[in-house]
Amino acid sequence: MVDIRMRVNGVEEKVDLSPQVSLLDALRGELGLTGTKKGCDQGACGACTVLVDGERINSCLALAVQYDDRDITTVEGLAGEGEAHPLQKAFIRNDGLQCGYCTSGQLCSAVGMLAEHEAGAPSAVTEHLCATDVELSEDEIRERMSGNLCRCGAYNGIVASIKEVAA
Ligand code: FES
Repeated sequence: MVDIRMRVNGVEEKVDLSPQVSLLDALRGELGLTGTKKGCDQGACGACTVLVDGERINSCLALAVQYDDRDITTVEGLAGEGEAHPLQKAFIRNDGLQCGYCTSGQLCSAVGMLAEHEAGAPSAVTEHLCATDVELSEDEIRERMSGNLCRCGAYNGIVASIKEVAA
């Protein structure tokens, strides 16, 4: 067993884990943060997306012990005090969900994606261009969110929500 410390949604957490435990299982099983979902458990669906130091990752592919002394944000940490995150409000306004299973991953991924865009990280759509030089178009959003699948097919609402917040 290994002792690690993580700051999860601003709270210092100390957990004693087997080195084989994924970050996803640590968040859900050890810390009770079940908003982060397990879909494929193979890095293919994005349901388990969380933010580590502001960058989005698939927590099913990460070992928790790799994240000692890091800042983790899950869907439970997106809302401010008593108020939903602007993306959460936009998802509600635009029907950006149906069953909701992928929604926590979609939200965390969108938060990370918007930060990447603001930082000028290029994507396959913008290629070599600095992304901040181009509008965050629907194609751009779809490409940057392509790691997050929605089996209900709520993509139009998801893209509309992100476009609204990015504007
Ligand atoms: Fe992690 Fe599907 S559960 S990518």
